[in-house]
Amino acid sequence: MKTPELSPFEHQPANYTGPSADEVLRLRKEFLNPGIFLYYKKPIMLVQGKMQYVWDENGRRYLDALGGIVTISVGHCHPEVVAIANKQNETLQHSTTIYLHPNIAEYARALAAKMPGDLKVCYFTNSGSEANDLALLMARVYTGNYDVIALRNAYHGGSALTMGLTAHRTWKFNVPHSFGVHHAITPDPYRGLWGRDDVGAGKKYAEDVKNLIDFGTTGQIAAFIAESIQGVGGVVVFPDGYFKHVYEHVRAAGGVCIADEVQAGFGRTGSHYWGFETQGVIPDIVTMAKGIGNGCPFAAVVTTAKIAQALSTRIHFNTFGGNPVVCAQGKAVLEIIDREKLQENSLKIGNRILNGLNKLKEKHNIIGDVRGKGLMLGIELVKDRQSKEPAREECGQVLETAKEMGLLLGKGGLWGQTIRFSPPMCVNEADADFLLEVLDRALQEL
Ligand SMILES: Cc1ncc(COP(=O)(O)O)c(C=O)c1O
Repeated sequence: MKTPELSPFEHQPANYTGPSADEVLRLRKEFLNPGIFLYYKKPIMLVQGKMQYVWDENGRRYLDALGGIVTISVGHCHPEVVAIANKQNETLQHSTTIYLHPNIAEYARALAAKMPGDLKVCYFTNSGSEANDLALLMARVYTGNYDVIALRNAYHGGSALTMGLTAHRTWKFNVPHSFGVHHAITPDPYRGLWGRDDVGAGKKYAEDVKNLIDFGTTGQIAAFIAESIQGVGGVVVFPDGYFKHVYEHVRAAGGVCIADEVQAGFGRTGSHYWGFETQGVIPDIVTMAKGIGNGCPFAAVVTTAKIAQALSTRIHFNTFGGNPVVCAQGKAVLEIIDREKLQENSLKIGNRILNGLNKLKEKHNIIGDVRGKGLMLGIELVKDRQSKEPAREECGQVLETAKEMGLLLGKGGLWGQTIRFSPPMCVNEADADFLLEVLDRALQEL
């Protein structure tokens, strides 16, 4: 059988002249956090990127179907983003919010214009964890309540506060955390109590949030926080109506609703600009990061003027949050998504991949579930479709084989049993077909 080939792409990577991958690995082992993990038995080193592709130090090209962990929205080193960032870097790299700067104000206006309802006030931070920290603070100060409901299988970050929201043993250290946080059951139509065949599943899962409020808290809560689609947890898409019912329960208990759009935002789901819109709700606070800056350390919290007002009794300051360079880059990202119709492309190419994955499911019994929206897709591998025993090693092996064939994939789920697909939103049909061919081969080789 012919090895799948990447479609031609006009970009000549520059010759790499830096230290070898072995040397970098050695340095990393000696000088870096020993807890960070590497994908692949023989780690690859990426030294260049252009749009949906990355190159290793030997000039080999790969399709980046994980998008730098769902961070590259408009394409690696998109020329316009690079030009704008370079220009700003040459003009003024840093000021802070103690002075006026046009970029932060103009970016806030552009971002607010993308938000529904009264979501008009922006705060800027450097990471998704910081954004979620701030959202929690906001909710607690605004409501005067303390308890927070999050979901099992959630990932909201690794800071002290967000580690408490995150609900995977993998990311939790054995230190005191999660004060006031209660985790409701995951509304997971594949592994949960109610499946896709149950039209009332959304309402039933939402009842657990109500139950938790009634039995686990004072009855008055600060917030409910959830990813609009769980990313790290393995692309779990909640049943229709879930957020609508949850939001009703939360608001009746005095709480605000926080949508974590760190992965699902900026058009990635294809049908909508924001992931929460796929559930027909408007949150009170939205957090975003990753795709917002296409690779720079940039994140945001957007809320209503009323909630923001509550936080003005003290100063909330963030040195780098919304600096002139990241705001310039962020504004370019918003413009490119619209001009290059990347949300539409996410829907078109995402559907092509989704259809292909469903066909692969008919052929490979190891695929237990196919799910996702737009270019946020996943397949869950199981040893047996009846028992749904996670096929963790097989999932790792598929990633290895795909890498050998020039395709970089992601992994998710508590047991690392779900393959994730979240390429830059500029991928094309030929990339989709390549991805499916490689995946088919990698599954066959198991
Ligand atoms: C949904 C979600 N929220 C928050 C975060 C934390 O973002 P950061 O790593 O930028 O702190 C992540 C990171 O993967 C995430 O996926």
